[in-house]
Amino acid sequence: MQVFIEKDYSAMSEKAAQIFANEIKQKSDLVLGLATGSTPIGTYKELIRMHKEEGLDFSKVVSFNLDEYYNLPPDDPQSYNYFMFENLFNHVNIKKENVHIPNGLVKDVETYCKQYDEEISKFGGIDLQLLGIGVNGHIGFNEPAEELILGTHLTDLTEDTIKANSRFFDSPEQVPTKAITMGIGSIMKAKKILLLASGKNKAEIMAKILNRDVVTTKIPASLLKLHPDTTIIMDEEAASLC
Ligand code: GLP
Repeated sequence: MQVFIEKDYSAMSEKAAQIFANEIKQKSDLVLGLATGSTPIGTYKELIRMHKEEGLDFSKVVSFNLDEYYNLPPDDPQSYNYFMFENLFNHVNIKKENVHIPNGLVKDVETYCKQYDEEISKFGGIDLQLLGIGVNGHIGFNEPAEELILGTHLTDLTEDTIKANSRFFDSPEQVPTKAITMGIGSIMKAKKILLLASGKNKAEIMAKILNRDVVTTKIPASLLKLHPDTTIIMDEEAASLC
């Protein structure tokens, strides 16, 4: 596992975008695994700049998003679908048919989730998976638990996560309590994983992961230590307790 500590959010974002750009330049039909949350916004901004100013080409790139709130329509401004188009897809030349984001309105969730994983496999698997991290160590919406589900699935969000995500909603009652998420197995199958952590509120969880040589399903991100090609980029605040 490679760990980089960058001065601040913007240096972290630039480094992450550089890794993305290098991979896309090497393989134009790269399959990306993408994340939402505030952490990757700077990386997406930098990728948009690279597209506009340096011609970084997304025309053959394929993307799969990690997760989506359950029961939230794709055009809801709080949906991850909306987020991805606002923060990246509307500003680069990725083809709409190459974009995959779990559909939170689906009725037969089980069949749908199986198909989502099959679709990833059809494209040869994810080449580069971007991850943020929840304050409790969740990745995607794989929350701390005794057991973690391997494939894409419907999951209940923990109180911690609902509280953390409530900042994006007008009232706590509006915050979804369930989500469809890629499972820990879907994530670990990615050829390369890039986890970003920024800010003081991530310092404690990053220290729990990096200061001890253990893995636990109670901190899902700790399992990334078992992956052969994981890179973590933190800013100094997130790394302050490591
Ligand atoms: C949500 C997302 C995660 C993300 C996490 C952290 O729960 N499902 O993919 O990593 O939030 O978000 P932030 O980057 O805003 O701290």
